[in-house]
Amino acid sequence: MTTADRSGRPESRQPVSDLYDVINRRRDVRSEFTGETIDSEVLYRVLGAAHSAPSVGLSQPWDFVLVRDEATRRAFREHVLAERSVFAAELSGERARTFSKIKVEGIVESSLGITVTYDPERGSPDVLGRHAIADAGLYSVCLAIQNLWLAATAEGLGVGWVSFYREEFLRRLLDIPSGVRPVAWLCIGPVRELAETPDLERHGWRNRLRLEDVVHDGKYRHDFTR
Ligand SMILES: Cc1cc2nc3c(=O)[nH]c(=O)nc-3n(C[C@H](O)[C@H](O)[C@H](O)COP(=O)(O)O)c2cc1C
Repeated sequence: MTTADRSGRPESRQPVSDLYDVINRRRDVRSEFTGETIDSEVLYRVLGAAHSAPSVGLSQPWDFVLVRDEATRRAFREHVLAERSVFAAELSGERARTFSKIKVEGIVESSLGITVTYDPERGSPDVLGRHAIADAGLYSVCLAIQNLWLAATAEGLGVGWVSFYREEFLRRLLDIPSGVRPVAWLCIGPVRELAETPDLERHGWRNRLRLEDVVHDGKYRHDFTR
């Protein structure tokens, strides 16, 4: 049942401004972590939000590996920095100069690492809705990550997604079974602030696109720049 507000509009038609506020405040964090401990009730609320995500065929193909151990985090950071160099070596000129100023992780400065994994075998073989699009399982994990990211923002925490790694390295580091894919290493914890502008925009790497450039009406337009 819906109730009406004072303007007479049904309440269900009102935008939930808190949600939009959280969506707009969310940032990818690398430099602003304080390193303070995350309250475990808060952490489990955030993980609960991730675990409430939609998933293809209700397969819930995600797992969350909480990495507190400093030596493990340092080992991962070493690997990420090596991969950063691999990418940097592919760049030249202005791209190389701009990238050299960009921090790509906050693995040790954050309070906790969370590796989110994808298990394609969960709920198999009859995963309802995945027979034609195998990636639908992976999409489900990304939705769990986005839920986690937004819930963490609502709790006043920052999150940074790290993807500068080889899956095999992380699999070995955390003892992840061979068929299970590590999808993300998330740096999470209290932050000094959330920046208003994405780091990559601030550093001149790339700008956000305008909404009208990515909305296509009826058929796909081919007149926009990538
Ligand atoms: C799949 C994925 C992988 C990412 N990998 C990295 C990464 O390795 N390092 C990093 O600093 N940021 C990473 N990011 C964060 C993006 O750079 C960031 O989301 C983007 O620049 C927009 O900024 P915002 O999240 O603050 O809006 C990743 C984001 C996504 C969704």
